[in-house]
Amino acid sequence: MIYGIGTDICDVRRIKASLDKHGDRFALKILSEGEFKTWKARSARWPERGIRFLATRFSAKEAFSKAIGLGMRMPMTWRLCEVAKLPSGAPTIVLHGVLKEWFDAKQLSAHISVTDETDYAASFCVVETQLQA
Ligand SMILES: CC(C)(COP(=O)(O)OP(=O)(O)OC[C@H]1O[C@@H](n2cnc3c(N)ncnc32)[C@H](O)[C@@H]1OP(=O)(O)O)[C@@H](O)C(=O)NCCC(=O)NCCS
Repeated sequence: MIYGIGTDICDVRRIKASLDKHGDRFALKILSEGEFKTWKARSARWPERGIRFLATRFSAKEAFSKAIGLGMRMPMTWRLCEVAKLPSGAPTIVLHGVLKEWFDAKQLSAHISVTDETDYAASFCVVETQLQA
């Protein structure tokens, strides 16, 4: 049964402006530990790809926060929600800490899709529950 859906569109130029202003501190606020390492490596090789990586993560996490119906409110936090990759290349949500506990207790599972083009990154998330209403 579908528990919730969420969508988000993110202006890549705003992400770039925040990065220019706050540097790594901004990325550290949005990214989990694993994502931060990937972001650092990508940014070092190709800064533009680093900005896009951050923008798609930002939009995916917002879409997820809407699909679970909390928005950015505890236990939902940026860093406890990680956007990882499956061997196929598809993105997948991996949760940590109290957010994972909350999510698992409700027997939820998430599906996430992300895209980006020039100035925008967008995401769509579907969350399912095993529990009957
Ligand atoms: C959900 C949230 C992450 C979106 O923030 P945003 O990037 O500024 O705004 P977006 O344009 O991407 O999305 C806004 C839409 O999200 C939806 N939304 C808001 N809260 C939501 C929630 N708890 N669950 C699902 N969707 C939500 C609404 O449809 C809203 O549109 P509306 O303002 O026309 O009603 C943010 O509103 C949030 O964290 N809310 C929870 C905390 C809160 O309520 N803060 C208010 C001040 S106390």
